[in-house]
Amino acid sequence: MKDQADELRKMMGAKDKRPQRIISVSSGKGGVGKTNIAVNLAIALHELGQNVLLIDADLGLGNVNVILGNMPEYNLYHVIKGVKKMHEIVVDTEYGIRYIAGASGFSSLANLSARGLSKLISSMDSLNDADIIIVDTGAGISDQVAYFWLSSDENIIVTTPEPTAVLDAFSVVKVIASEDSEADIKILVNRVTKPSQAKVVSDNIISASKNYLNMDVKYLGYIFEDKTIPYSVSQQFPFYQYDNKCQASMSIHNIAKKIADMEYSDSRDTKGLSGFMETLSRFLTKNGNVKNANIKKSN
Ligand SMILES: Nc1ncnc2c1ncn2[C@@H]1O[C@H](COP(=O)(O)OP(=O)(O)OP(=O)(O)O)[C@@H](O)[C@H]1O
Ligand SMILES: [Mg+2]
Repeated sequence: MKDQADELRKMMGAKDKRPQRIISVSSGKGGVGKTNIAVNLAIALHELGQNVLLIDADLGLGNVNVILGNMPEYNLYHVIKGVKKMHEIVVDTEYGIRYIAGASGFSSLANLSARGLSKLISSMDSLNDADIIIVDTGAGISDQVAYFWLSSDENIIVTTPEPTAVLDAFSVVKVIASEDSEADIKILVNRVTKPSQAKVVSDNIISASKNYLNMDVKYLGYIFEDKTIPYSVSQQFPFYQYDNKCQASMSIHNIAKKIADMEYSDSRDTKGLSGFMETLSRFLTKNGNVKNANIKKSN
């Protein structure tokens, strides 16, 4: 374990060209819209002039490629197994973003070992040229997913207005707060029928986070319930490209704009890739092994 951490630290010695923002998109409850949001947000940010790389870090059931209508030959599985380097599996898309496919179908990877995860992270150093890296994670509160949250600069937590999704979103905040009281957490409410619905949901999470966890959580915005999304998924086409005037696309555009604007207004330093690796290395060292990691679970 020590060797592994040393190796990561050595790699961190190489300076990033410029700090990048690593933004994870996650949720407690599954199926709330993370992947659709990650893909379309990446495209909308590209339209706003950002160099965006999208990583499908759902290591059990990655499906970013399905939404992009693309079937790459290599994916994260090959990097974790040491067959390919990260830069060799980056795929260019017709939408201007690049992406790295998840390890869909390899269920054993849902229980990724520390060695596999560190291989994955170490090879991320070759992705220095992106301005923003969006990481689509799996749902739930597994240790493996938690490492991605805790190593990112910003965490977008997606929920729907359903009480179960809201409670699970709060559980994610709890896990992050238990490890990093300064973490940047933003709530995004998907599938709303009116903006006030999103405000009520996010206010509940924000006040519970403040009162019970002493954690500041921000409200990022909302996305309307929109039939264009399931239809465009069935066509394997990102909805933002399919119809950039539909309600969901307008919502995504507003969110992308808010995120792009934050880059200039927010004076907080980003961790960037070296910070991402440093944080990850710290967790790996502290916990010894990803599988046995003792990240606090919500109760
Ligand atoms: N705003 C919306 N309006 C209508 N349907 C939506 C909306 N957002 C997502 N959906 C539908 O919800 C389903 C789940 O979306 P998605 O796969 O993006 O969720 P996920 O959170 O990534 O799921 P998982 O937890 O399995 O990774 C899709 O079939 C999609 O069409
Ligand atoms: Mg998904």
